[in-house]
Amino acid sequence: MCVPAAAALMALAHVSIAQDLKHGEALLSRDCATCHAIGRNGDSPNKLAPPFRTLGQRYPVESLEEALGEGILAGHPDMPEFKFDAGDVGAIIAYLKSIQRR
Ligand code: HEC
Repeated sequence: MCVPAAAALMALAHVSIAQDLKHGEALLSRDCATCHAIGRNGDSPNKLAPPFRTLGQRYPVESLEEALGEGILAGHPDMPEFKFDAGDVGAIIAYLKSIQRR
C-alpha cells in the first residue's frame, strides 16, 4: 500500500473511533442514564445502580458484550430488557472502556 493511502486509512480509523465513543455515549444516555451515572463523574440517579465508570473494577467491560447483544442483563430490578445490534454493542463497549477508573 502506498504511504498516502495508509495515512488516509489511519485518519479514517481515528474518526470512526471518535464517532463510536459518541454513539456509545448517546445510546447509554438514552437507555441507561435514568438510573446509571454514565459519565466520568457524578452519582447514579438510582442509588442501587452502579456508575458505569466503576464496572471495570469488578470485571472487564468486554464481558458485557454478550449480555448487551443477547439482551440478557441479569440482576436488573425494574429495568426494561435491552438488546443492541453488533455495531451498537461495539460502540457501547468502546465508550465504557474510555470512562473506566481503575
Ligand atoms: C430502571 C433503572 C435501570 C436502567 C434503565 C438501567 N439499569 Fe442497569 N442497573 C440498575 C440497578 C438497580 C442495578 C443494580 C442491580 C443489582 O445490583 O442487583 C443495575 C446494574 C447494572 C449492571 C451491573 C450488573 C452486575 O451484576 O454487575 C450493569 C452492567 C448494568 N446495570 C447495565 C445497564 C445498561 C447497559 C443499561 C442501559 C442499556 C442499564 N443498565 C439500564 C438499574 C437500571
